Amino acid sequence: MGRFVLVVGNGGREHALAWRLAASPSVDRVATAPGNPGTAACGPNLAVDPTDPVAVADLAEAEGVDLVAVGPEAPLVAGVVDELQRREIPAFGPTAAGAQIEGSKAFAKDVMQASGAPTGGYVATGDRDEAFDALDRFGGPYVVKADGLAAGKGVRICASRDEARDAVDDALVRGVFGEAGSQVVVEQFLLGPERSVFGVCDGEDVVLLAPAQDYKRALDSDEGLNTGGMGAYTPVPDFALEDVDHLRELVFLPVLRELAARGAPYRGLLYAGLVDTIDGPQLLEFNARFGDPETQVILPKLASDLGDLLHASAVGSVADVEVTWHDDAVVTVVLASGGYPEGYATGVPILGVDEAVGHDGVTVFHAGTARDVDGRLVTAGGRVLDVTARGADVAEARSRAYAAADRIRWDGQHRRGDIAAHLGSRPS
Ligand code: GLY
Repeated sequence: MGRFVLVVGNGGREHALAWRLAASPSVDRVATAPGNPGTAACGPNLAVDPTDPVAVADLAEAEGVDLVAVGPEAPLVAGVVDELQRREIPAFGPTAAGAQIEGSKAFAKDVMQASGAPTGGYVATGDRDEAFDALDRFGGPYVVKADGLAAGKGVRICASRDEARDAVDDALVRGVFGEAGSQVVVEQFLLGPERSVFGVCDGEDVVLLAPAQDYKRALDSDEGLNTGGMGAYTPVPDFALEDVDHLRELVFLPVLRELAARGAPYRGLLYAGLVDTIDGPQLLEFNARFGDPETQVILPKLASDLGDLLHASAVGSVADVEVTWHDDAVVTVVLASGGYPEGYATGVPILGVDEAVGHDGVTVFHAGTARDVDGRLVTAGGRVLDVTARGADVAEARSRAYAAADRIRWDGQHRRGDIAAHLGSRPS
């Protein structure tokens, strides 16, 4: 008998997890809580508030699941994994203490520095004058971060000292971020391209995943506002698994040792955001969960069993699991609601998903969709669909993804036209 896995969350990342788990030989059944119209094709959607640890654990117990895989950061920070562990239900993801690596930028910087992993200088403070002093000490460009989770809006890179002081005041004086901004982290600016590397951890050890590149800005040519991510691709030239292997020893293992020493052994996905500076890689930030939409390209590339890997992370040793990859390239293009990441309409009918799915090598992951009272698929979020395609190389995957994306229509749709464009042009 294979496992019954419950995926917690309702976005494109959770659809990709449910989809890949459903195709894993070690997994018999998948359910998603609360899920979306896309995850419903992988198994039942079960209603729950994903940030309510007792409700999630009650559901997992009632359904008799063998493993819970938690997707987003909010349930992790809320302690969903702690409650599951208390009831001896295997859970993929860190405890609330470990999830502070994403939930508190001050905690993350403290762990980075104490572990000896390379990172820039910083000052974490709730005192305005101390923050202003730190700005002058580090100089421009100025980096000011709200300490807590601020829906992606808590990080400001400022060209001028006045703007940076204003960012400090937004957090500490005006309370723009509420409790999340009761402390700020002023950091040394790190110059260079940003990279992210994902590791599946078991408290002591880590298996690194095939790297992917995402696109954070809303508009082509990296213009416009920061978003959760508008597309991604893998493999990344000069940034393959063998190119990141040294980061196990340099970054991941020291950080895992540091967290264990603090009584918070880290199981789950550790997402390291790095900057490739002229002095070598420097840690910028951590996330406590899979990247979105990077997961939507990494999991189609994974050849081995995802269920075994997540289970080993939850209750075993990741070194015992063989992790293998397809040679294919994968590209995902995010179809978003016009206006995202600011205000946008919801409830707009979506046409053409079935046509897109009929294309060679294409999977469409649902990120922000719903069914209306008549059962029609409608928009329900900023990022709506992730049109994902495999190909022999990135150029082919890209062409397939955009050809499929062209079939999907709704009023006010927005997407970037340049995802992976530098790696091969799209045939007309
Ligand atoms: N794509 C960036 C993130 O998941 O944080």
